[in-house]
Amino acid sequence: MPQLPGNSRYGSIRSKLFLLVLLVSAIALTISMVGGALLEWNKQQEQVRQSLVTTARAAGIAASAALAFHDRKAAGDALRILQAQTMIEAAALYPLEGYRLATYGDSGGLPDNVSKLSEHLPDFTPWSAATTLFQPVVLDGSAIGHLYLRASLLDYRRTYLLHAALMIGANLLGLLLAAGLAMRFIDRIVKPVRELAGTSRQVRASGNFSLRAVPSEANLGRDEISELVDSFNAMLAEIERRERDLTSYHKLLESRVLERTASLHTANRELQLAKEAAEAATLAKSRFLAAASHDLRQPIQAINLFKEALDKTGLNGEQTRISHFLSRAILNLGELLDALLDISKLDTGAVAPQPGVLGVHKLFSDIDAEFSLLAAAKSLRFKFSFPPGATALFTDGALLQGLLRNLIGNAIKYTERGGVLVALRRRGDQALIQVWDTGIGIAPEHRAMIFDEYFQAGNPERDKAKGLGLGLAIARRLATLLNTEIVCHSRPGKGSVFEFRLPLAPNGQ
Ligand SMILES: Nc1ncnc2c1ncn2[C@@H]1O[C@H](COP(=O)(O)OP(=O)(O)O)[C@@H](O)[C@H]1O
Ligand SMILES: [Mg+2]
Repeated sequence: MPQLPGNSRYGSIRSKLFLLVLLVSAIALTISMVGGALLEWNKQQEQVRQSLVTTARAAGIAASAALAFHDRKAAGDALRILQAQTMIEAAALYPLEGYRLATYGDSGGLPDNVSKLSEHLPDFTPWSAATTLFQPVVLDGSAIGHLYLRASLLDYRRTYLLHAALMIGANLLGLLLAAGLAMRFIDRIVKPVRELAGTSRQVRASGNFSLRAVPSEANLGRDEISELVDSFNAMLAEIERRERDLTSYHKLLESRVLERTASLHTANRELQLAKEAAEAATLAKSRFLAAASHDLRQPIQAINLFKEALDKTGLNGEQTRISHFLSRAILNLGELLDALLDISKLDTGAVAPQPGVLGVHKLFSDIDAEFSLLAAAKSLRFKFSFPPGATALFTDGALLQGLLRNLIGNAIKYTERGGVLVALRRRGDQALIQVWDTGIGIAPEHRAMIFDEYFQAGNPERDKAKGLGLGLAIARRLATLLNTEIVCHSRPGKGSVFEFRLPLAPNGQ
């Protein structure tokens, strides 16, 4: 068992308890000692006083006749009775006249005359070496003189001190006994507390909740400490159980997460594969379409050549009319093939934008050349608006022209009155390019669909003469290639605007 810091604290509670027991015992013993000494003192004092008074009275009676007759010799003989009391050092008899009639023992210090004396009983302290008594000698109820006594207290004091020493010895023995017993019992009481503290330190240091404090009921039976040990052990068991539960929950959670992650991975891979397959299929379809429209061009050209040859064979009126319809059908077919080829080319990724500096003047004059006649044929105004000075875009010119061609073509096509305006405005380092018209406009519910393939708001019968419905689909793909997006605003009956943003060339060049 490793020695952990704080173990020495056990010593402190033990010594505190020990000191407490010692203090309480010492106080109790001291009180009893002092009380005993006082009682003993009182008792002894009373005994000494009684014995002296009785002796003095006996001596007084013995000497009363001699005193009455002032007989010195008889008085001295009578006083010899005092020999029976060894503690009496000296004594003197005084008749009523007050002079000293007779003495006994060591007469030094005995007063010659009673004038200095007053009647008193023996009085003394534990430190006094001697005491005195002065009392009247009575004969037939009246005082005939006085007796003076001096008694040594040395013997008495010796006895008293011996008693006291014995008592102190006994008390010290008691204190020693109490200390020994206290040590034994305190050790027994403190041992389980120390073990409990040791176990708690070990648990704290090792984090091992399977440890338990040892119950020590064998020595002291059930008490608060054994209850504390039990509660502590129960607490440890509870913590251990919770820790086990937590660990198993943790493991369960981990395995669930792993499971879910694995299934997510699988799902992701499946999705990825499906997406790749769909993309591959779309690409294959676009390639097939491109190849087909390219190959279809050959027989169409052949048909055209055959029709021209047929025209030269001198046709009658009906045959010329049929030939005319044939031309229009061939034209439509050509346009359709062009549009399909465009879309499939854009979808297969065969077209890569090649951005360069494109002057706005050049762009707009090309457009003007292409569309002004078309607009004039419908009596529409056709205008441009752009900032003064040289302005240039940084973009792919061919793709931008394709995009504008679709938007401007639509604007002229769906406008009967008013005109078409192509505008370019600076917006920071970008140009906002807009195609305005005062045409029929687009209903809000159609606005989201006009960019879909084959959607035409005004041609539910799908009359090929009214166009193919592929122009905006192509425009949207071109915009994506140019990294921009076409936004359409429109008010039905008032007109529409289609706009998108492109980067300006640096320095406006
Ligand atoms: N400027 C416009 N004004 C009104 N409607 C328009 C305009 N441009 C496009 N549209 C609507 O969007 C449809 C799709 O346009 P588009 O894809 O170019 O096909 P198409 O021009 O061949 O009909 C058009 O049929 C028309 O209904
Ligand atoms: Mg169109």
